[in-house]
Amino acid sequence: MHDQFEIRPLIYGSDEYRAALALRDAVLRRPLGLKLVVQPGDESDEHHLGFFLNCQLVGVLILSPRGPGEVKMRQVAVAEGFRGIGIGTRLVRYAEEYTQRLGYEKIRLHSRKTAVGFYEKLGYRKVGTEFLEVGIPHFEMVKELK
Ligand SMILES: CC(C)(COP(=O)(O)OP(=O)(O)OC[C@H]1O[C@@H](n2cnc3c(N)ncnc32)[C@H](O)[C@@H]1OP(=O)(O)O)[C@@H](O)C(=O)NCCC(=O)NCCS
Repeated sequence: MHDQFEIRPLIYGSDEYRAALALRDAVLRRPLGLKLVVQPGDESDEHHLGFFLNCQLVGVLILSPRGPGEVKMRQVAVAEGFRGIGIGTRLVRYAEEYTQRLGYEKIRLHSRKTAVGFYEKLGYRKVGTEFLEVGIPHFEMVKELK
């Protein structure tokens, strides 16, 4: 990737956070005929990370502390037209370092069945059986950070 990129936390409630909401809605909800609904304050204690390509927000994810030593990674989304060029990989790797700096050792996530291969390449493993979330098949996946 020869363009300028930056990966960093987004401030909850900021314009960038609102851009992240729009991206999550466009990537993760509208293609399913759904709309992202987030109540004010709902996500204030989570970590919102953004990938900026030439100053444009093109990738997002959320880290949500859950239980001792563990975070849930959720809402991983790369804008259409920017996929397959390493943005998701860079964002997840950054999130793993960020998770460790926060003092957590394990990441858990719910992967769409269609994205399992992406997470497997990053060292996540499936646990349990297939289940439905937002009406589509998912698997729970985990990774111990070393
Ligand atoms: C899944 C997603 C986050 C991956 O991000 P990305 O920037 O496209 O991924 P990368 O370019 O870093 O791909 C890394 C590797 O994973 C592979 N990969 C990417 N998406 C994949 C998928 N859905 N299934 C299997 N492999 C995938 C790539 O081919 C690449 O392989 P390579 O290293 O052998 O070339 C992105 O495609 C996306 O937002 N998809 C729509 C929303 C979604 O499914 N989000 C996940 C919800 S659980």
